Amino acid sequence: MHKLIIKGKKELTGTISISGSKNATLPILASTILSRETKLTNIPLVKDIFTMIELLKFIGLKVIIDKKKKSIFLENFEKKINTLAPYKLVKTMRAGVLVLGPLLTKYKKAKVSLPGGCAIGTRPVDLHLLALKKLGAKIQIKDGYIIADAKRGLIGAKIKFPSISVGATENAILAAFGALGTTTLLNCAIEPEIIDLIKFLRKLGCKIKIEGRKIIINRKRNIIKKINHKIIFDRIEAGTYLIAAVLLSKKIVIKKINPRLLKYEIKVLKRMGAKIKISRNSILIAKSKKLKKINISTKPFPGFSTDLQAQLMVLMTQAKGMSKIKENIFENRFMHVPELRRMGAKIEIKNKIAYILGPTRLTGAEVMATDLRASVSLVLAGLIADNRTIVNRIYHLDRGYENLEKKLKKCRAKIKRI
Ligand code: UD1
Repeated sequence: MHKLIIKGKKELTGTISISGSKNATLPILASTILSRETKLTNIPLVKDIFTMIELLKFIGLKVIIDKKKKSIFLENFEKKINTLAPYKLVKTMRAGVLVLGPLLTKYKKAKVSLPGGCAIGTRPVDLHLLALKKLGAKIQIKDGYIIADAKRGLIGAKIKFPSISVGATENAILAAFGALGTTTLLNCAIEPEIIDLIKFLRKLGCKIKIEGRKIIINRKRNIIKKINHKIIFDRIEAGTYLIAAVLLSKKIVIKKINPRLLKYEIKVLKRMGAKIKISRNSILIAKSKKLKKINISTKPFPGFSTDLQAQLMVLMTQAKGMSKIKENIFENRFMHVPELRRMGAKIEIKNKIAYILGPTRLTGAEVMATDLRASVSLVLAGLIADNRTIVNRIYHLDRGYENLEKKLKKCRAKIKRI
């Protein structure tokens, strides 16, 4: 099993190019079931994307990847379509459940494995199913599978989500793509990745309007045969390197981004004392000597992202005073805390709130990655710690960070994979 060995306290300097967004690519890949010929560019070459590709191949799509150009070509000629998403492919990647909406709306039936819980929380799919049922699907849960059918096709409806979910919003939009008439979704997630999905579906011929948290979808009129789409940048990857730069950089430029989509995160970093210069498609950032404490709560976009909570916590260990993070999205997303404590961090958790006392000098240790974002927080901690840090179980990192060591090494970090 691979591990990362990091020698800390090395100043970073250089340029980091941000990859395409994993969380935008996954639903867009699922939606290619609805398309004929699709070319996607700016694809991040990470494990979750390859798992989704395996799933699409299993379903019957033809997929050709050009790794050098980071592009994928997909064809759905509907010869032998399998409306099944098996457990072995959905269990390692929850986003597999996103094929449910497109399969059901196009082929009127689908059998998709329940993704189950995961380390950061129970992560049910009740909101996905609620939306599909309102669109007229009959759904049963049997032997660990969601078995859905809509013999006469889905019919547009007005659906209000009781709470905000990224995945449920995406599945509902995808199902509404083929539903008769108009679908109005209320209390939706409006993450930039969802907006990218909507841009893709509009190219496919679907009429979609967004008004605040309301999304109105009109059934597609005519199928557009060939579509090209460039995936947006990964704002979570960008946010992760922004935090690394505040911790350690002499001068780092983060490029290939749209800083407007990181507005809240940049505001938080500036309030903590970060020196940030924003340009149109890049950010220049230098280490801050005196960081100030801050209190934040994770929220759906445009709030502070839960996917950057663990990384920000590492920064808070270096800020003067008691910082607080309230995790509102997932019930068990503080698993990095015991590992950070082993490196010397002073963190207490009470209910949903982590209290972080700083500044603390961290010391290298052997630590265990538990999920994707927790893993990268341990890498950040290793980069600022005295001595050597070994991060085990880094397969979590490979699910979502493209060339992490390469990008950090280019900025002179001492990091290697063994
Ligand atoms: C997506 C992102 C993930 C991010 C999360 C929140 C992808 C591939 N993943 O995950 O990186 O951390 O959004 O921004 O885009 N919930 C229910 N019932 C449901 C669905 C969700 O109760 O049917 C709950 C979840 O348990 C969680 C909350 O709603 O507590 C938000 O989850 P959701 O927004 O659905 O996250 P994902 O789409 O799984």
